[in-house]
Amino acid sequence: MTRQLFVTTALPYANGKFHIGHIMEYIQADVWVRFQRMQGHQVHFVGADDAHGAPIMIAAEKAGKTPQQFVADIAAGRKEYLDGFHIGFDNWHSTDGIENHELAQAIYLGLRKNELIDVRSIEQFYDPDKGMFLPDRFIKGECPKCGAKDQYGDSCESCGAVYTPTELKNPYSALSGATPVLRSSDHYFFKLSDARCADFLQQWTHDAERLQPEVLNKIKEWFTKDENGQGGLGDWDISRDAPYFGIEIPDAPGKYFYVWLDAPIGYLASLKNYFDKGGPRAKYGETRSYDEFIADPAVEQYHFIGKDITYFHTLFWPAMLHFSGRKTPNNVFVHGFITVNGGEKMSKSRGTGIDPLKYLSLGMNPEWLRYYIAAKLNSHVEDVDFNPDDFIARVNSDLVGKYINIASRAAGFIARRFGGRLSGDLGVEGRTLLDTLRAHRDAVTQLYESREYGKALREIMALADRVNEYVDANKPWEIAKQAGQDAVLQDVCSVCIEAFRLLTIYLKPVLPALAAQVEAFLQIEPLDFKAADRALGAHAIGNYQHLMQRVDPKLLEALFEAPSAPEPEKVIPGGEDIAPEIKIDDFAKVDLRIARIVKAEAVEGSTKLLRLTLDAGEGRMRNVFSGIASAYQPTDLEGKLTVMVANLAPRKMKFGLSEGMVLAASHADEKANPGIFVLEPFPGAQPGMRVR
Ligand code: MSP
Ligand code: ZN
Repeated sequence: MTRQLFVTTALPYANGKFHIGHIMEYIQADVWVRFQRMQGHQVHFVGADDAHGAPIMIAAEKAGKTPQQFVADIAAGRKEYLDGFHIGFDNWHSTDGIENHELAQAIYLGLRKNELIDVRSIEQFYDPDKGMFLPDRFIKGECPKCGAKDQYGDSCESCGAVYTPTELKNPYSALSGATPVLRSSDHYFFKLSDARCADFLQQWTHDAERLQPEVLNKIKEWFTKDENGQGGLGDWDISRDAPYFGIEIPDAPGKYFYVWLDAPIGYLASLKNYFDKGGPRAKYGETRSYDEFIADPAVEQYHFIGKDITYFHTLFWPAMLHFSGRKTPNNVFVHGFITVNGGEKMSKSRGTGIDPLKYLSLGMNPEWLRYYIAAKLNSHVEDVDFNPDDFIARVNSDLVGKYINIASRAAGFIARRFGGRLSGDLGVEGRTLLDTLRAHRDAVTQLYESREYGKALREIMALADRVNEYVDANKPWEIAKQAGQDAVLQDVCSVCIEAFRLLTIYLKPVLPALAAQVEAFLQIEPLDFKAADRALGAHAIGNYQHLMQRVDPKLLEALFEAPSAPEPEKVIPGGEDIAPEIKIDDFAKVDLRIARIVKAEAVEGSTKLLRLTLDAGEGRMRNVFSGIASAYQPTDLEGKLTVMVANLAPRKMKFGLSEGMVLAASHADEKANPGIFVLEPFPGAQPGMRVR
């Protein structure tokens, strides 16, 4: 029976390029999708950018772009990666697409109709400078437990404590440096604590053999209340206040869906977009609409995701779908994280270790990586380590040494001695070998189906070992030297080619481009799993051209080489030499302090000077004259922080007493090269802090 599958990967945040973690997830899903298609099933495989949320809005602002433009620019870079690693999404969309706006609002209204939406006033930190509520990640301060400075609003990186932003000492906004104030506002909640939700999720998550055992264990933890009655399923805050880049909540002016509400709905939105463009009709002659398709109980829905987002996908997402009257996913397949070089931690947002585009630009074969990652993957939530030596060994000894070698050992004789023609009759030993290979088809397909790719590839390589044993036992290079043995030579080489074809079928989900080359070389139709039942017979094949190179270890060195540092600036502007060396004690004599420019005024009778009123946290103001009038309007400066020399002897000037000096940069030859630049500290610095 032909299965109908709807498959997705997690939707990547649209504020960064793909890193190796994304590519690993896409390879895992892409192998599964290709495998299903080779079984004759119909698959719609879609992805999208996760466009919404405060971090993206803020990143766009920093980049001087609208969020829409910012996200579009990121989206434009996706193809290079996906094509490069042969990731065959049928559609790539955005959660900011019109389909997602409509679907998110419809799902929300469904939940509301089911009386699962609640409105409550909550108190949150608000940035008075920026005029917005601050997400936890944008509030910093001192850890309430250990006092470490500059900790995020949700947890301390120094002692590991978890807390709410309001518990931070001396909190400040990471956006503006301002001290946040508490403000209350109405928030919308999805009432997950409702008994109907708990009942449904208990049942959905425990349905026979649905989830991976380790995922189910996690979920059990999440369901359990601790001795204080804390934990368990709480209501979920699904709204954010304007300004927010997101989808408006119906009947709630100024309120937007929290990004994690609309993100998974993006799966449906991308599928709908694909249907509305006629993709499924063109590919499979599909006549149903998106609505008909997605409601069909025969359609299976699967999501590939990483372990960090399990909660959203196994609790919130099925509940959202179910209580808005929709079908729930058949399963969520959770994978671990990829680490590089023995667990070196990879930052989720930055990524480290392997830059996928650098990999490609070095001319490294994308299928080496597909093979290596597949060889490391299983059906469990286990981390995968990329180890360069292991990579070289697997590709060179297994893939090239065992598999590619079979073709290269036999193809030359077939071409040179038999005009490319295979023999129809292969001899008993050869037929037995090929039957053994065919007999493993079900085992291999079962392993792919259950995402045990590592085991599948080990099984396939064990079969390749058998073929190589056959070659070693029959020694075609020796038969070739013997007179009157042409028929035997042709048989042996034909067995090798047929065996190579069978192994190619088994490897094709992982190595689609290589398989296409093999199909061209063998002059055959695209291979699927059914093709294993057939035999080539007395078929003519094309000329063998080397199918895959071995990995040169130098490539891995180059891959891991740190990007070359930017060229140092050669010319000090204005040619001012560095002053004679001093000792740290000399430097310590200068007391530099952060100061807030409370007031800035023009000085009557001077075109050069501004009069600044500075607050360096001393409980008094300082009066400082600064020669920066040519560069700044007083209003540019007021409210800003700067750096002041605090222990400079006061100087009596024509206009009054100057009690310090503000630091600014300029060229040595100020006349020829005008420009003065007052120093401003990074956000978070506070008046009175010493600069050392
Ligand atoms: N935008 C959310 C997902 C929304 S899904 C409706 C998100 N984006 S992400 O870009 O941070 O991550 C996308 C996927 O990459 C997630 O499945 C995540 O687990 C996965 N990975 C991120 N880093 C990873 C590794 N180091 N290794 C493997 N996968 C990792 O989360
Ligand atoms: Zn701490």
